[in-house]
Amino acid sequence: TTPSASLPAAEIGVIGGSGFYSFLDDIEEVQVDTPYGLPSDRIAIGDLGGRRVAFVPRHGRDHRYPPHKIPYRANLWALRSLGVRQVLAPSAVGSLTPAYGPGTLAVPDQFVDRTSGRAQTYYDENAAIHVSFADPYCPVGRTVAVETARKAEWEPVDGGTLVVIEGPRFSTRAESRWYAAQGWTLVGMTGHPEAVLARELALCYTPLCLVTDLDAGIEEGEGVTMEEVYRVFAQNIDRLRAVVSDVVSSLPADRTCPCARTLDGMTLPLELP
Ligand code: ADE
Repeated sequence: TTPSASLPAAEIGVIGGSGFYSFLDDIEEVQVDTPYGLPSDRIAIGDLGGRRVAFVPRHGRDHRYPPHKIPYRANLWALRSLGVRQVLAPSAVGSLTPAYGPGTLAVPDQFVDRTSGRAQTYYDENAAIHVSFADPYCPVGRTVAVETARKAEWEPVDGGTLVVIEGPRFSTRAESRWYAAQGWTLVGMTGHPEAVLARELALCYTPLCLVTDLDAGIEEGEGVTMEEVYRVFAQNIDRLRAVVSDVVSSLPADRTCPCARTLDGMTLPLELP
């Protein structure tokens, strides 16, 4: 599998906040068009730890796209068309337990979809394609992320369940308490459909969740504000960027995980880039 002749190549993709631009060297920016429209913004391709990395600012450079309007399908399709096969997805999340305070790094192993109305598949005509999704994240990527954070002395939460809400509003106290009562540990707005679209393209997808706040249901908390989310994210962006860089350089060059074989034996109704 080689990327289109006219596009520069990358092997690892990062979808994250705009704070991630500066971590690539020798950046080349490309506008990639897809059958699903344009991605959130031009994609920056550059070197990092000896690897070619493509970076997509999830919300666009000027934060134009709220979580429910992000062109998720175009973002993942564009990354694959550049040659990307492994995706790292740093994001800000709320915590549903006082045990994980602001500044906690978590690598969940499950999510629950509470979004509505988002385009969440590439396979919506001419065939019935059902990808396996019991374990939504790449097991190798998760292990590398956890071990890398640990080495950087930022002990991560290994596992847990991210509930993805539709937003863009934050949760009510009752919703938040209900999520926590289900045993779910984190709450965010972008984890779905990003992860499933990656899986539908047989890409590896690894979440790196930075806790920015205690969500509304935690009694001691006063309820999350946007100001708080941005402030705590900004306070932690340097070390998050450092961990993402280390994960990039530690990811294996060859994929042995099941993600790579997701579509084996299936007759797809479309040709993947
Ligand atoms: N992103 C960051 N904090 C969040 C919260 N409390 N709920 C949903 N998404 C978030």
